[in-house]
Amino acid sequence: MTDWDAATYDRLADPQEEWGREVLERLELSGDETVLDAGCGSGRVTRVLLERLPEGRVIGIDAAPSMIAKAGKALGGDARVELRVGDLLELDLDCETDAIFSNATFHWILDHERLFGRLYAALRPGGTLEAQCGGQGNVAEFKRAIEAAEGDERFAPYLRGIPASYNFAALDDTLARLRRAGFEDARVWLENRTVIPAEPEAYVRAVGLANHFARLPPELHDEFAAAVLGSMPRPLVLEYVRLNISARRPD
Ligand SMILES: C[S@@+](CC[C@H](N)C(=O)[O-])C[C@H]1O[C@@H](n2cnc3c(N)ncnc32)[C@H](O)[C@@H]1O
Repeated sequence: MTDWDAATYDRLADPQEEWGREVLERLELSGDETVLDAGCGSGRVTRVLLERLPEGRVIGIDAAPSMIAKAGKALGGDARVELRVGDLLELDLDCETDAIFSNATFHWILDHERLFGRLYAALRPGGTLEAQCGGQGNVAEFKRAIEAAEGDERFAPYLRGIPASYNFAALDDTLARLRRAGFEDARVWLENRTVIPAEPEAYVRAVGLANHFARLPPELHDEFAAAVLGSMPRPLVLEYVRLNISARRPD
């Protein structure tokens, strides 16, 4: 699995925390539940989730070891938190959760059919899923700039044939997949969000290029980031389209 630059992500993930807080507001909690944070990253939003669970518990799972290490430093002393390195496509918890929360993660996972099936299995009957990720049309200009850089002869030998880096799913596909996984009361909707990063290069590297950096040799990382940013207008304006998901496992 792809590792991330967790320290830089944690420093620059203000937009992601803001969106995550909005998704958390949708979660109905009494305060004693067990909640899965699916793709918890460096733990910035996990910390906010914990404030809602004085008597509860959070299981944070993320595929990136550096992210789990960073989250462990921030939250490790808290007995209510269990952090694990793991792939959500292989999710197999030894307990059922009351709710699943996920922020800015699902678009990094190509197989949503399998993802929703694993999440459904991890929920108790009646449990809820509240999530947000990149949806159809997300950062379209940035995506075009990445695709152009992928074709550059300096990078193409390392990137040829790699699977798509992002899965910005459409509303109707997502609804159909949720229903096929068994969810009911499923609602999906898109929201536009504009981000103008204060540190454009560091932001783009830490938030958007993890999959590419995992395949390119380190000495090409700067050149690749420069190629992507070089074909985008300045100041850098990122037009995000967020895909929201609310669903419930039947009783
Ligand atoms: C943009 S970060 C979001 C982190 C956090 N939820 C937040 O809001 O700050 C995306 C995270 O998804 C994780 N991720 C990507 N694919 C994954 C997978 N298959 N299983 C688990 N985590 C995954 C990455 O490692 C990364 O930490």
